[in-house]
Amino acid sequence: MSESSFLAPQHQIKGQVAIITGGTKNLGGETAKELARLGSNLFLHYRSDQKQAEDFKQELNKKYPEVTIELYQGDLSDDESLKKLYSEAKSKFPKGIDIAINNVGQVIKKPIIEISEQEFDSLDDKNNKIAFFFIKNAGLNLNNNGRIISIGTSLLAAYTELYGGYQGTKAPLEFYSKAASKELLPKGITSNIVSPGPMETSFLLNSEPKQAVEYFKTVALHQRLTQVSDIVPIIRFLVTEGTWITGQNIFANGGFTSPK
Ligand SMILES: NC(=O)c1ccc[n+]([C@@H]2O[C@H](COP(=O)([O-])OP(=O)(O)OC[C@H]3O[C@@H](n4cnc5c(N)ncnc54)[C@H](OP(=O)(O)O)[C@@H]3O)[C@@H](O)[C@H]2O)c1
Repeated sequence: MSESSFLAPQHQIKGQVAIITGGTKNLGGETAKELARLGSNLFLHYRSDQKQAEDFKQELNKKYPEVTIELYQGDLSDDESLKKLYSEAKSKFPKGIDIAINNVGQVIKKPIIEISEQEFDSLDDKNNKIAFFFIKNAGLNLNNNGRIISIGTSLLAAYTELYGGYQGTKAPLEFYSKAASKELLPKGITSNIVSPGPMETSFLLNSEPKQAVEYFKTVALHQRLTQVSDIVPIIRFLVTEGTWITGQNIFANGGFTSPK
């Protein structure tokens, strides 16, 4: 049974449809679980691990049998593949899509002088191009009063070294999301960014040495990393009661980007 009775009727998402990219693990997966708990149907994209995605779907189906969950596999690196993501979602859910959450991202931690053209292009594809065309196709396809959420990074507010490629390719998202929030006002669609601090997922743990992880803990509240569970409630709020918020980037990092 969905657990959304704490929400006023106009804020409920029961029976709505959410697309989540990278939606079967880590931040995307936990967001999917929360939206399923509130009764939203899910169109969950994954890129690489079919077995993991199928197991995840099965687990959710078991827990929330009233929710319809569809999986979609694909690399999303161009406009065409994002068009296809939305058209497949609409073919599975003919009433249309209400919530669109883009989780895709890649980090390479290196000085600028060591980043190859190929590495730059890879960062640019995942953090910049996909973010743009995800929002474009959301704008073309979302139902009236839809919500777009893009996942940014708290590094957008940091003055630091070694993340130039990551920060620089995530930064345009702020302008895409803000512009979309204005352009989509007539359809009542909101567009926001949620920007986590260093978050304890494989994304961080596979790209950072232990020493860096330990350092991140010392510069945030409670001497710990950002947890996925710190971020999911913010996404929940934006797609339910928080629909007066648009064009914003919400930094959620336990103070990570502030000087000590
Ligand atoms: N973890 C952190 O410290 C942290 C902090 C701030 C912001 N973020 C941002 O939070 C978001 C989610 O990160 P996460 O920590 O939850 O890690 P994650 O699960 O690894 O999320 C990244 C997702 O992007 C997908 N992806 C990469 N390239 C793709 C492509 N070409 N086409 C389609 N999908 C692609 C990955 O799929 P595959 O794995 O299947 O390739 C993965 O599902 C990312 O945007 C990241 O930049 C993370």
